[in-house]
Amino acid sequence: MLPDFGPSIFSEMTALAQQHGALNLAQGFPEFGPDARLIDAFRDALSSESAQYAPMPGLLGLREALAADQLHRNALRYDPATEITVVPGATLGIFCALQALVGPGDEVVLLEPAYDAYRPAVLAAGARPVGVALRPSPGGFSVDWDQLADSVTPRTKAVLINSPHNPTGMLWRREDWERLSGVLPESALVLSDEVYESMILDGSTLESPHHHENLRERSLRFLSFGKTYHVTGWKLGAVLGSARLTHALRNIYQFAAFSASTPTQHAVLRFLKTAPDYARELPAFFAQKRDLLASSLAESRFRPLPAPGSYFMLVDYSEVSDLGDRELAHLLTREAGVATVPLSPFYGSAPAGLRMLRLCFAKEDSTLAEAGHRLTSWASS
Ligand SMILES: Cc1ncc(COP(=O)(O)O)c(C=O)c1O
Repeated sequence: MLPDFGPSIFSEMTALAQQHGALNLAQGFPEFGPDARLIDAFRDALSSESAQYAPMPGLLGLREALAADQLHRNALRYDPATEITVVPGATLGIFCALQALVGPGDEVVLLEPAYDAYRPAVLAAGARPVGVALRPSPGGFSVDWDQLADSVTPRTKAVLINSPHNPTGMLWRREDWERLSGVLPESALVLSDEVYESMILDGSTLESPHHHENLRERSLRFLSFGKTYHVTGWKLGAVLGSARLTHALRNIYQFAAFSASTPTQHAVLRFLKTAPDYARELPAFFAQKRDLLASSLAESRFRPLPAPGSYFMLVDYSEVSDLGDRELAHLLTREAGVATVPLSPFYGSAPAGLRMLRLCFAKEDSTLAEAGHRLTSWASS
């Protein structure tokens, strides 16, 4: 039996935002709609042909198009038949991978703050989550390699990495993967949540465990078409990795969901073919939004941390208030009319004295400017 986790902090803050009519920078999905061509493709896909189950690993055409896209954008090569599985969202992919690959007696290292779905999925597999805190600094968060090395034991079966990272925006660099491979036992797996892989905002290129010879065969990457194409409600993602790990994943996945929705797969397939460079335009699009939000806070004592990836930004509020982060997030929703997310719920056991909030900048420019204005006015009142 799993412990009762209660509603997530995102649901809690969104309910509060609705209650107070606040701008919602808590919700981690776009305020704007997808490209009109994708909606057209979805509408066209609503034929009787696409009304039945898709093949278990996903439409072959979509797997082939994704393989071509990954080769083109990230210089990574996959066999669509044996190394790609289309799933109803990255979250389910991660859940199934954990059920397939870890079990009682195993430990899974989570770098915290971490996306809230990881810990329950590790527990559901009967394994033990081992939280390792990332090290905060005004320049952003980084891995504390000594602490990570101390937390790895012969029982470490997997480490779950998320880059670009929710909630800090941190990116894993080539040297991080190299150091990880030096720290992990040879038998340990890497689960790499890369749902924000097309949102690298500092001009660098994606560094994935699949670029690393020593990690390629023992790592799975989790992607989300929902995140990339602003269609989170479609719940469509993919798991990429060696035939051995893909075989293990599919063994569970075929009984957990069997397949992902067919018309959404047709729609994304057509979009990948008709707009092959769409994802290359995302960094500039989101960097402008991040910079707009940061500059709208420039006159306040909220201190935005660098956000080189994802569509989240942390702000340090230690010069604004001594309240705990949950308390301040509630107060800002009520008084400033801006909902944010406190950082502490992203930890199994949060370090004392955290003074940070997460802001999502996948919002209309007018929302971002107004949110910055409201927070600045509130902090100076
Ligand atoms: C780090 C991370 N992984 C996975 C997801 C969910 O992806 P999907 O909607 O494809 O399940 C999110 C959504 O917020 C996320 O932030």
